[in-house]
Amino acid sequence: APFVLGAPVSLADSINRTYNLALYMQKNSSVLVQTYLQYQGSPFSDPGFSAPEIQLSSLAPAAVPFTLWRSLGDGERLVQVHRAFSALAQHLQLVSDDQADLNPGSSVLLSQLAAARLRAQGLMSNIACAITVLGVSVPPEMDTLGPAPFGASVFQRKCRGYVVTREYGHWTDRAVRDLALLKAKYVA
Ligand SMILES: *[C@@H]1O[C@H](CO)[C@@H](O)[C@H](O)[C@H]1NC(C)=O
Ligand SMILES: *[C@@H]1O[C@H](CO)[C@@H](O)[C@H](O)[C@H]1NC(C)=O
Repeated sequence: APFVLGAPVSLADSINRTYNLALYMQKNSSVLVQTYLQYQGSPFSDPGFSAPEIQLSSLAPAAVPFTLWRSLGDGERLVQVHRAFSALAQHLQLVSDDQADLNPGSSVLLSQLAAARLRAQGLMSNIACAITVLGVSVPPEMDTLGPAPFGASVFQRKCRGYVVTREYGHWTDRAVRDLALLKAKYVA
């Protein structure tokens, strides 16, 4: 359940609640990219399609060297996840708009994209609460997309949607690992 403003909350409760939400999101996060790929035609819909080398400069990848990841402070760890899901929520809106234009009949995909965006926002507010309880200031929301990216080709739009849905899954995995680490430290 999302954090209810006004309710007194301990760090342990906040971390536990946020961990449970991330775990719930993880159960389903690979469904989104698979559904997305099915609707884009070849080569995206070909069996086993994967293009890990494609990245977006506006979206930080979840992949991080283990030693660096392990050495992050509690506040910085949560701030990075918060920033990532803020960027993901913005990018998921762009991908929804692209898909409403390119695949207007894809109601299954469009509803999964909308659900993922809502969950990203829900995770963000839970993490913002944990950051606050930790005594760190919540980073201001940033515009990660910059000028409206009109004029991209159909192929470029399909590629960026692929990266966004893929990174949504990777960041969900990372959020679970980040929160598991904090849970081990703060939740009895
Ligand atoms: C964490 O949350 C789960 C699910 O709500 C609950 O069953 C468990 O008791 C909680 N753990 C602690 C230590 O609060
Ligand atoms: C998984 O995704 C499907 C399709 O979007 C949805 O109906 C279902 O509620 C989701 N389950 C979880 C655990 O998120």
